[in-house]
Amino acid sequence: LPTHYTLPSGDKIPSVALGVWRASPGEVGNAVKTALQTGYRHIDDAWIYGNEAEVGAAIKESGIPRDQIWITSKLWNTFHKPEDVEPALDESLSRLGTNYLDLYLIHWPVAFKKGSQNVVDHELTENPYPTWKKLEEMVEKGKVKNIGVSNFNIRRIQNLTANPLKIKPAINQVELSYWNPQPELLQDSSFKWSKENELLLEAYSPLGSAQKVKESLQIPEVKAIAHELGLTPAQVYISWHVQRGTVVLPKSVTPSRIQENFQVKALPPNAFEKLENAARSHKPVRTVDPSKNWGVDIWN
Ligand code: A2P
Repeated sequence: LPTHYTLPSGDKIPSVALGVWRASPGEVGNAVKTALQTGYRHIDDAWIYGNEAEVGAAIKESGIPRDQIWITSKLWNTFHKPEDVEPALDESLSRLGTNYLDLYLIHWPVAFKKGSQNVVDHELTENPYPTWKKLEEMVEKGKVKNIGVSNFNIRRIQNLTANPLKIKPAINQVELSYWNPQPELLQDSSFKWSKENELLLEAYSPLGSAQKVKESLQIPEVKAIAHELGLTPAQVYISWHVQRGTVVLPKSVTPSRIQENFQVKALPPNAFEKLENAARSHKPVRTVDPSKNWGVDIWN
């Protein structure tokens, strides 16, 4: 399985990252240190997670040179107005204790009105180009190396890429799991579109998130594959994601699981098909969707 993917910038992004959403203060730093000791070189963070300072301190303490670690953060919905982008980025940089990010994503295709936590700016939501231009400027200034989006469906990406972009989105980070495998993003004509546009997907909640991880680990097909290959069910899922051609962002604050999740292995074609079919044979469910409360249907 690939340990990295190459982005249009030429940068190599590690295929397995540590996710730190809902990794609490007091435990996230140890999780990052364990991950770095295990061999992870990719941490997926965001301004809104509220743990950038602890993550940054742990990276520093690891002693691993900055240029050997891939750090992602994300622009929160409150800061989409062009004049708010750079201050928000600067805050993430200073909390993380670094002068550049490897990747900066628009966290959600939703802009809140200035100073508000939930009032939608519909104009900027439907047309994120002004926000994007500012992100391009951040690349030119050297504050970020790569830029992308998160939670964007194809219509919203095309809405953005219809503009005369200097830099195309390199990444779309979305929920991908057994519960919500989103084959339309991966396998059909849309997938071709993603490939043609060199848009790499990243899988968040790859184990079904805290809500459904227990259930995920009990899926008979996955248990059978795990047994056959001498893997754990979590390793089967994480391997499956990389084999699907995406970056995968499993979250854990438990040292043994952090180590477990880094051991991926190619599934034989029949096992891969079995899991792919099982994931597609039920009604898809989104395990995480804060956008339900935002007064805009971002999935349309
Ligand atoms: P914890 O952080 O307490 O170790 P996802 O990556 O899909 O968001 O899932 C995260 C959830 O899955 C967390 O509750 C995490 O618990 C749990 N988890 C992560 N890795 C494993 C694993 N290898 N086995 C069992 N549970 C896991």
